[in-house]
Amino acid sequence: MDDKIAVTEAEAESFDLANLPSDYIADPYRYFAALRGYDPVHRMADGSYLLTRYDDLSTAYRDSKVWSSDKKVDFKPKFGDSPLYEHHTTSVVFSDPPDHTRIRALFQAAFTRKALAALEPRIHELVDHYLDELADRGEMEVVSDFSFKLPVEIVSVMLGVPTEDRILIRDWALVILGGLEPVLSPEAFDAGNKAVDDFKAYLRGLVAHRKAHPTDGRSGEILTALIEAEEDGQKLTELELLHQCIFMLNAGHETSTNMISHGVHEMLSRPEEVARLRAEPALINSAVEEILRYQAPIQINNRRAKTATELGGVALPEGAQVHLMIGAANRDPAQFPDPDRFDISRRNNRHLSFGLGIHVCAGNALARIEGVIAFGKLFERFPGLHLTGPAKLSERVRFREIWELPVAV
Ligand code: HEM
Repeated sequence: MDDKIAVTEAEAESFDLANLPSDYIADPYRYFAALRGYDPVHRMADGSYLLTRYDDLSTAYRDSKVWSSDKKVDFKPKFGDSPLYEHHTTSVVFSDPPDHTRIRALFQAAFTRKALAALEPRIHELVDHYLDELADRGEMEVVSDFSFKLPVEIVSVMLGVPTEDRILIRDWALVILGGLEPVLSPEAFDAGNKAVDDFKAYLRGLVAHRKAHPTDGRSGEILTALIEAEEDGQKLTELELLHQCIFMLNAGHETSTNMISHGVHEMLSRPEEVARLRAEPALINSAVEEILRYQAPIQINNRRAKTATELGGVALPEGAQVHLMIGAANRDPAQFPDPDRFDISRRNNRHLSFGLGIHVCAGNALARIEGVIAFGKLFERFPGLHLTGPAKLSERVRFREIWELPVAV
C-alpha cells in the first residue's frame, strides 16, 4: 500500500456512502485507513455514522440491547409499503429479540455438526465435478463455472430447491439484496419488489409440495423445521416462513460465492502463497480465514441506537444509525499487525466478516467448510492455475463482489 496516494483528511471528512469517489470500488481500503485515522465515527450528510475501527464495530455488534437490527424505522421511507419492505423487515437478520431469539432457534437445526457433516460428502463431490470440467476444458470463468455453483447448490439442497430452479434463485437474490445498496434507483426498486413477489410465489409452491410429500425432501432439514414451526402456529407465521427461506437462500450463496472468487483471485495474484499452501496443506484453515478477512464478502452491516449512547468517545443520540464497515475493521492495525499484508498463516485472525454477537452468521461453519474444500482441492489439483485476465468487480458497495475472473491451467 506504500505506493498508493494517501487519502487526505479533507477527503475523509467529506466521505459519503451516497456519493462515493470514483476509485472507491477498486480500492476502498485507502479510504478506510483515512477514516479510521482522521474520523473513525464519521457523520455523513444524512446524519448517519460510519464506523471503521475494530473496537467500535465489536461494541456495536455485542451490545444488542443498545444497538438494534430492526429496520422498520430505517426502511419505511426508503421502501414504503412494498414487498421489499416486507422482506427486509421480517427476516431473522433484521429483527431484535424476542422475535430474533424465536426465529434464530429454528435455524439451529440446519447447522448442527451432524447436519453439516451430512453435507460434506456432497460438497466434495461437487467440487471434484467442477474441477473435472476445468481439467477437460483447460480454462474457466471462476464466478459462473465454480464459485457461484457450489454455494447455491448447497443452500438449495438444504431448502429442497430442485436443481433446474437454481438460476432463478441467483437472479432474485441479486436484486433483493441489491435493494440494500446505499443508493437505490427506481428501476432497482421495481426489480427488487418483483423479485420478492416472484420468490414468495415460488416458495409457496415449494412449501405446498413439501407438505403434501413430507418424506420427499432428501436432506432439506431446514425447510422441514421451518414448516413444522409454521404448522405449530406459535413459532412462525406463514409470511415469516417464506421470508426466512428467501433470506437463507440469499444469505447462503452470494456471500460464499464471493469468498471463493476473492480467494482464487488473492491467491493467484500471489503465486508464493499458493506454493506455501501446497507445501503445507495444514495452512488451509488459516488461509480461508485470511481470505475472509482480506476481502470481506459483506462489507457493511447496520444498527440503530435504541437509546442515547457513546461509541469511540463520541456521543450518539437515540435513533442514530450506524454503518459497521467490516472491510475497514478487518484492516485495523490496532487489531491486525501489518493489516494490508495477505498472509495465509496469520494467527489470532479474529476478523469480523461473519459479524459478532447474537446475529453472528448462522452459516459461518458451513461457509468455512465450503472454503476449505473448494480452495484445498483447487490449489492441490492445479499447480499451474493462473489468472488470464483481471478480476472485474461489480459496483455494489454492500457486497464486495467479483463479477468475472478468467483462469487457465
Ligand atoms: C462467506 C460466506 C458468508 C459471509 C461472509 C456471511 C456473513 C454474514 C454476516 C456479516 C452476518 C451478520 C449480519 C448482521 O449482524 O447484521 C450474517 C448473518 C447470517 N448469515 Fe451469513 N455469511 C456467509 C454465509 C452464510 C451461509 C452459507 C448461510 C446459510 C446457508 C448464512 C446464513 C446466515 C443467517 C441465517 C444469518 C442471520 C443470523 C441472525 O440474524 O441471527 N450465511 N452472515
